[in-house]
Amino acid sequence: MEHTISINAQKERKVTDTKSVPFGKIPTEHMFIAEYRDGAWHEPQIVPFRDITLSPMALCLHYGQTVFEGMKAFVMEDGKINIFRIHKHYDRFMKSLTRMCMPHIPRDLFVKALHQLVALDADWIPKEEHGSLYIRPFMIATENRIGVKISEEYLFMVVCSPAFQYYSKPLKVKVETTYVRSAEGGTGAAKCGGNYGGAFYPTQQAQQEGYDQILWTDAKNHEFIEESGTMNALFYIDNVLVTPPLSSSILDGVTRDSLITLAREKGIIVEERAISYKELERAFKEGKKVIAFGAGTAAVIAPIESICINGTAYNCYIEKDAIMYELQNDLLNIRKGTTEDKHKWNFIL
Ligand code: COI
Repeated sequence: MEHTISINAQKERKVTDTKSVPFGKIPTEHMFIAEYRDGAWHEPQIVPFRDITLSPMALCLHYGQTVFEGMKAFVMEDGKINIFRIHKHYDRFMKSLTRMCMPHIPRDLFVKALHQLVALDADWIPKEEHGSLYIRPFMIATENRIGVKISEEYLFMVVCSPAFQYYSKPLKVKVETTYVRSAEGGTGAAKCGGNYGGAFYPTQQAQQEGYDQILWTDAKNHEFIEESGTMNALFYIDNVLVTPPLSSSILDGVTRDSLITLAREKGIIVEERAISYKELERAFKEGKKVIAFGAGTAAVIAPIESICINGTAYNCYIEKDAIMYELQNDLLNIRKGTTEDKHKWNFIL
């Protein structure tokens, strides 16, 4: 079925200087919204950004049926607008929805909604270096009923916000061996709200101890690295790029996938394998150069300055010639259109 999106555009708000505003604080002028009821999506529309009303009995408020994506649009070197890896984000969104028992959205509706919304609010995309439009598609369960059940009604919405670098400086992280982000068979691979809410307390504890973020370990042994904060974790040791393999407890990061693809193309050996904090500790103790970084849509790459393992902080290599910056530049050049987009990652409006 072809979906027609009705558009109620009101261009009134002036684009403000967004560079000094915290990530995700300013919405653009419009948003997309569609309702799911009686087994189908209804009234897809783009409207001026506004609050929504929900019954206090809406299921999302009680049992956590909420799923989101994080994507970015860029102004390219030639002035065209590019939504990066729209189809990979769509595929991951559908996987998350399946895991949370929520209805899929037809691909054409998702693509059209993002295309039309980003085109309408294109003047909000910062053109400066590291500037982008952060796109947040999300779905919530809206049926009004506090019985524990799968909702039969949902809202799918898309909001956007101008964004710059997520982290302004390299991170001090701590290997977490008490709390877990997700266990095997849990919801870690789904981008559902609960994964993030559950991480707040351990992250707050780590921050009170002077760290910026957590390096999560596996739920069984507290030994193997899973993710770093809200990002995938990558390490470059002995000329090999190592990252934990995807599993039911690790998010299939789009930036992770892009970086390891680009690394392999440059001839770098990439190993998607389990890596324990003991292996990292050994490398530090042997005096090896350890490059560590997080990768995610919001952060792109987040260099890790130090890793604390069982109370001892070890310094990582973060100088300008570290491989993570080269990989980041390769990625930015594809998005800008200054190098060839061999994999058709760019969705150009
Ligand atoms: C992203 O990188 O898009 C994320 O989901 C991280 C955070 C902003 C929730």
